[in-house]
Amino acid sequence: MSLFEKIDHHRLPSHIAIIMDGNGRWAKARGLERAEGHREGVSAIRKVVEAAIRASVQTLTLYAFSTENWYRPAEEIDGLMDLMVYAITKETADLKKNGVSIASIGDTSRLPVKVREALDTCIRETQDGRNLKLVIALSYSSKWELAEATRRITSDVIKGILKTEDISEETIGRYLTTSKLSDPDLLIRTGGEQRISNFLLWQCAYAEFYFTETFWPDFDEEAFYKAILDYQGRQRRYGKTSEQIESDK
Ligand code: FPP
Repeated sequence: MSLFEKIDHHRLPSHIAIIMDGNGRWAKARGLERAEGHREGVSAIRKVVEAAIRASVQTLTLYAFSTENWYRPAEEIDGLMDLMVYAITKETADLKKNGVSIASIGDTSRLPVKVREALDTCIRETQDGRNLKLVIALSYSSKWELAEATRRITSDVIKGILKTEDISEETIGRYLTTSKLSDPDLLIRTGGEQRISNFLLWQCAYAEFYFTETFWPDFDEEAFYKAILDYQGRQRRYGKTSEQIESDK
């Protein structure tokens, strides 16, 4: 029985978020430039997108570039930005054909114009895709997002659009860049580190975490299905007891 066949399609994680880590170490282990690792990373994205469609996952969010990544050497940043433009432009037609709609989260105002343009075109071209929503986190960090939401909430309170006493968890959710998305059910991090690195801190309040030593360029369909199976072996209790969860069923 293949890993795919073992998946219980009635208990799928609807939203999977991934911290794609290990491109640099993958390249170093082979005596290659870090840029080569990032290029292989794009091939891994393609495999995982196909696997997500096949498994009927609804939303896949990829951490492609964090706010902190702006501190990397300029040469690496330039290479990554060129790679994004190349990959987004090249993949748009296939994404559209496969019913994938693209969205982005993050401070896109900091991105070079060529990346914003490629992204905007891809978002527009793929807007009717219904098989998978692929969210690319670019120049994203959770602390940036929460500060931004706080600024907008405060501004709406000052304008009288919102009352302080009406601010609830739901209100905060509406001011986040992920307002139209469900919270991730499963967060995967490749590359062996076990931390969340300023990614979807609010939204991952009840996500299941899955860490793997596999470097991102080696993460493929089977690795993706393995993570889903691991998730399906867990009981999500949301603060309740096991007995309550069993009787809720
Ligand atoms: C982390 O590995 C990876 C990144 C910072 C970049 C990931 C970006 C891509 C794979 C390209 C994305 C393209 C599109 C179109 C979304 P690392 O460099 O931190 O690896 P290390 O920890 O081994 O050094």
